[in-house]
Amino acid sequence: MCGIVGYIGQLDAKEILLKGLEKLEYRGYDSAGIAVANEDGVHVFKEKGRIADLRAAVDENIVSQAGIGHTRWATHGEPSRLNAHPHRSASGRFTLVHNGVIENYVQLTREYLQDVNLKSDTDTEVVVQVIEQFVNRGLDTEEAFRQTLMLLKGSYAIALFDHENKETIYVAKNKSPLLVGLGDTFNVVASDAMAMLQVTNEYVELMDKEMVIVTDKKVVIKNLEGEMMSRASYIAELDASDIEKGTYPHYMLKEIDEQPLVMRKIIQTYQDENGKLSVPGDVANAVAEADRVYIIACGTSYHAGLVGKQFIETWAKVPTEVHVASEFSYNMPLLSEKPLFIFISQSGETADSRAVLVQVKKLGHKALTLTNVPGSTLSREADYTLLLNAGPEIAVASTKAYTAQIAVLAILAAVTAESRGKELGFDLVKELGIIGNAMEALCDQKDEMEMIAREYLTVTRNAFFIGRGLDYFVCLEGSLKLKEISYIQAEGFAGGELKHGTIALIEDGTPVIALATQEHVNLSIRGNVKEVTARGANPCVISLKGLEEADDRFVLPEVHPELAPLVSVIPLQLIAYYAALHRGCDVDKPRNLAKSVTVE
Ligand code: F6R
Repeated sequence: MCGIVGYIGQLDAKEILLKGLEKLEYRGYDSAGIAVANEDGVHVFKEKGRIADLRAAVDENIVSQAGIGHTRWATHGEPSRLNAHPHRSASGRFTLVHNGVIENYVQLTREYLQDVNLKSDTDTEVVVQVIEQFVNRGLDTEEAFRQTLMLLKGSYAIALFDHENKETIYVAKNKSPLLVGLGDTFNVVASDAMAMLQVTNEYVELMDKEMVIVTDKKVVIKNLEGEMMSRASYIAELDASDIEKGTYPHYMLKEIDEQPLVMRKIIQTYQDENGKLSVPGDVANAVAEADRVYIIACGTSYHAGLVGKQFIETWAKVPTEVHVASEFSYNMPLLSEKPLFIFISQSGETADSRAVLVQVKKLGHKALTLTNVPGSTLSREADYTLLLNAGPEIAVASTKAYTAQIAVLAILAAVTAESRGKELGFDLVKELGIIGNAMEALCDQKDEMEMIAREYLTVTRNAFFIGRGLDYFVCLEGSLKLKEISYIQAEGFAGGELKHGTIALIEDGTPVIALATQEHVNLSIRGNVKEVTARGANPCVISLKGLEEADDRFVLPEVHPELAPLVSVIPLQLIAYYAALHRGCDVDKPRNLAKSVTVE
């Protein structure tokens, strides 16, 4: 959470920082700021709110060749102009932006800043003040930066600017993402390659506990002992058009629409030259040889994991558990003899998941990461990676990454099943192809989804999603989508569970969206729909072709029932989208949230 960017070179730094921050806004958007330097000095602009608010506040006539910027998701201190970054040292000489959490900021304040009058409520300001204290004691900036980094506990990506040396930006990282972008006449740093794509596609990766001294001509990487590190650069295959909205009003709608394409890309990527599904041999072996799989994830990725568990158990016959990452660390179950951990994370940066990864690596267990972001922390630190190939997902509410995660898990389970001599009983390539077509057909029925959203969700304060088996897992995801972007209180329930308490909340007109795609529980879920209808609920049944009944509100195209989550989620994504739109909510940037959750 939070995004940082820094630029030093010949172009106008102010514009590059603002454009970069616009691309990083998904990481947090409660306040933003930049500090830019020119011959007149250093100019700091900060604003509560979005980058657009910051842009309006920046003096457009300022031309500068160096600067740092930040977009914030508040952890310490309320979202306000005062707490917005960059933060300045007491003398004004140093300016700093930070993404992460400094866990020992209270202790640092006590030990080093007794006489300093802190201006903000942030942990970040402590860092810049400690740096200045070291400089006041006679250290040069680089050494003061290094000594301060050695003291920090927690996570950080930091960019520091010394106003007395406007030719250098000092950066460092630990647990929070940070990349350096290379150019001929400039260098740039940012939390994410997307922020730098406007000027370069050549990047250098940074490791934890490294610091970098960046000028317009040089990038010098050192470890915290001060030793030089060498690192080759790489060219990223990101396409600038992938991160633009194009003609779409929102990224979320674009990303929902991209799902058929992503499905086809995944099938293609995970096919060998004979058209057979395949994953790298060591990955398949790791799953096949495990006596138990532990899936670790958060939010939407956790919901995808619940579906994936069914595939791994039903097809490959490997016992599988799914855990919420933030609970797993201190609620660790008794582990099996030979576990394999699968981390599912769109961003590959989620701090809760990473905390578990660090823990299980310490225990000597193998880990596989399924992520959309090559080179992300969870990918680098796991033994194996499978990429989702969904293309950048920018809307805060995850859509195409969810279906990509399920598809990749299906492929992994199928390949594992084969290597363990288990029969799937159907052709997964063919069925995923059918899924792609079905997704396309659903994306063409947006008017219908808009009508459902209008009919059921315009005036309500709450909504329930019910399903059984695989449908229950999709209901969890459907309700998360609805609540996070429309702020309607929505809950997903196992159909049979409602009557054990929650049915008390059903009153006249309460919307209950029910999924009915699984034949073996069809009668039971239909029974649950009758129970809530008898108590005044307004039921909206979405069924799979072949299981439909006369009053069903929407019928999904026929697909293999075990893969039904890949299609049944699409109406739920679209209904959530239109419900949020009708309520005037900011679909792509819902309140209080950020895309990449890099704090625990
Ligand atoms: C919801 C959503 C979140 C993420 C969760 C994990 O739409 O996007 O629930 O799924 O924060 O993020 P990743 O997958 O990046 O680890």
